[in-house]
Amino acid sequence: MSKSLILLGIFLFLNWNSSWGTEILVQKTRGGFPEYCFVKKLSVKEVPYMAETLALAIIKGRKIVFRNLAEINSPKPGPKNFTPDYFEKSLREAMASRMHSLTPKQKEIWEDFIYAAKLAVAINQERINLEGVGFKYFLPAVWARQTAFIFQAKTGIVIKQAALKYRHPVNRPDETEIQAILSIERRGLSDFSRWDYFGKQRVFRYFKPIKNKAFCAKCHGEPRGAKDPLGFEKEGFKKGEIRAVISVTLPVEG
Ligand code: HEC
Repeated sequence: MSKSLILLGIFLFLNWNSSWGTEILVQKTRGGFPEYCFVKKLSVKEVPYMAETLALAIIKGRKIVFRNLAEINSPKPGPKNFTPDYFEKSLREAMASRMHSLTPKQKEIWEDFIYAAKLAVAINQERINLEGVGFKYFLPAVWARQTAFIFQAKTGIVIKQAALKYRHPVNRPDETEIQAILSIERRGLSDFSRWDYFGKQRVFRYFKPIKNKAFCAKCHGEPRGAKDPLGFEKEGFKKGEIRAVISVTLPVEG
């Protein structure tokens, strides 16, 4: 039996009596699920391109944070160059090739994303500029998690970094995300998507994988359970294995 199947088995066993489907797409609170509202919706035609654009933007944004980790984690005094304006410019440049074909409504959602992405960098400025501190816990995954939180508050569109061996609880995969990860892994797909319902709301769910690279092994690699440089437990990912999928859920109007 493959490792993925064993993991799926363990997941199913642990979750056998919990709620299924898109319900765990959002965090369960005491007393039930929060009242849920998709603020921005797109037509059936506009949805797939937008979902892919948002997933790519998370991947590119993560890379920009990675490229700047040395600067971010430098204990030198004085403000760093990792400013909200620098981040916005870098992200817009990285995504420029996808901007030509956006419809006005897609463009509006894209600007909401830029707003969230930039705000996530802005609210971390004091942290990033702490003097005499090396590691500041501003990582690509943290930027992506905080951006997704702000973006969801503004638009209702859900973005997650869903993983079978997840570190942060908001990234716990739901049934569809597990299926996406396993299908991408087994069939070597570059992405995975599905039309679905969230309550009565029709949604498009899109998943794009992030691979585990040699650099990531320091914190996420083998041996599983050993301490990473931050003192957290490593997940035991192998090089090339799917670390997570960027999961985007977009509502359809009508
Ligand atoms: C310095 C240690 C460190 C390194 C190196 C590192 N990560 Fe992480 N990673 C973390 C931490 C800590 C979290 C949890 C962040 C949070 O608070 O949401 C995390 C979370 C993630 C998540 C979110 C999913 C989850 O499990 O919660 C993804 C995806 C991820 N990392 C991918 C990568 C990839 C890909 C690389 C290599 C390119 C990498 N990481 C390198 C420490 C690291």
